Amino acid sequence: MMGQPESVQWIGDVDGCLRLLDQTLLPLELRYVACHDVDAVWEAIKNLRVRGAPAIGIAAAYGVCLGLRNADETEPELFDQLQQVTTHLTGSRPTAVNLFWALDRMRAAADRLRGRATSREIRQALLLEAQAIHAEDRATCHAIGRCGTTLLPDPARVLTHCNAGGLATSEYGTALSVIFTAWDQGRRVEVFVDETRPLLQGARLTAWELTQREIPTTLICDSMAAQVMKEGRVDAVITGADRIAANGDAANKIGTYGLAVLARAHGVPFYIAAPTNSFDLSIASGEHIVIEERAAEEITENFGRRTAPVGVHTYNPAFDVTPARLISAIITERGIIQPVNRETIRENVSGQRTISK
Ligand code: MRU
Repeated sequence: MMGQPESVQWIGDVDGCLRLLDQTLLPLELRYVACHDVDAVWEAIKNLRVRGAPAIGIAAAYGVCLGLRNADETEPELFDQLQQVTTHLTGSRPTAVNLFWALDRMRAAADRLRGRATSREIRQALLLEAQAIHAEDRATCHAIGRCGTTLLPDPARVLTHCNAGGLATSEYGTALSVIFTAWDQGRRVEVFVDETRPLLQGARLTAWELTQREIPTTLICDSMAAQVMKEGRVDAVITGADRIAANGDAANKIGTYGLAVLARAHGVPFYIAAPTNSFDLSIASGEHIVIEERAAEEITENFGRRTAPVGVHTYNPAFDVTPARLISAIITERGIIQPVNRETIRENVSGQRTISK
């Protein structure tokens, strides 16, 4: 298979620009948007041109570089601007912790040079930091895949939700990395893909990534998962995560919690695959995770056609939280967390920095 197009690319040197694969247009159109300033990156994150927790973090890190583009003046001005730019980017989407983690890392990289470098040198160091975040994510995704395959039987019939693939990361993905790795190892894999209402990340993006690789793929509506499990056609459910609390409660795309309940009811293991930078050890449980609410139109008139009466009330949470007790294991780049509890998480994720709000 030809390499999948990258969702995030930095073009050029410190005065370069960010190129994002516009995921709102897939699978019909493969088009890139160029971001030359921080507002364009904010807009791309907010409107899901770039989406998926790790990809959002990487894009935001490059967004900091763009936001400081004209900050070649004095150091205090650069640090003022850095504060403004990072605050602005944190307001784009609230749930994926990778955004806050990446921005913290960028601030820390600049702080290390405070009083010791010119503004341009600090900007150059920030680009290197963003590129390091990007490169580390590649290695992380491949490591998650290698760890996760050990949990799968051969043949394996896996059900997934939303998109936790190459598009949602630097490449290869988290949940999909487990599937891609098993496939690349020559194992037999078959995937059920939830379409993922309301924005169809499963149908538009995950089904696209899997069929590009010619992995046997069956698209189902979200409401069909129970029936498919009851028919005994699923060996494991694997999804990604946007934020995992210290006790293992995990936020992911709306519908994930329901799938975990279904998996438990049918005796199917439910796995989360996520990098350690998706953990937020500063929060004790999922109760403290901010769930993004998105526009009513995503439910009532998405994809160009009104499908509900004008004036109807809607509720559109973009994520839900799966309690740790329903998660059979969490797959990270460092290994498998099983059972999922405060102690096993602390052991696996120790060294992870606390994220500032
Ligand atoms: O709203 P989205 O499309 O950004 O939601 C994405 C998800 O819920 C993914 O499963 C999660 O970010 C993990 S991506 C590796």
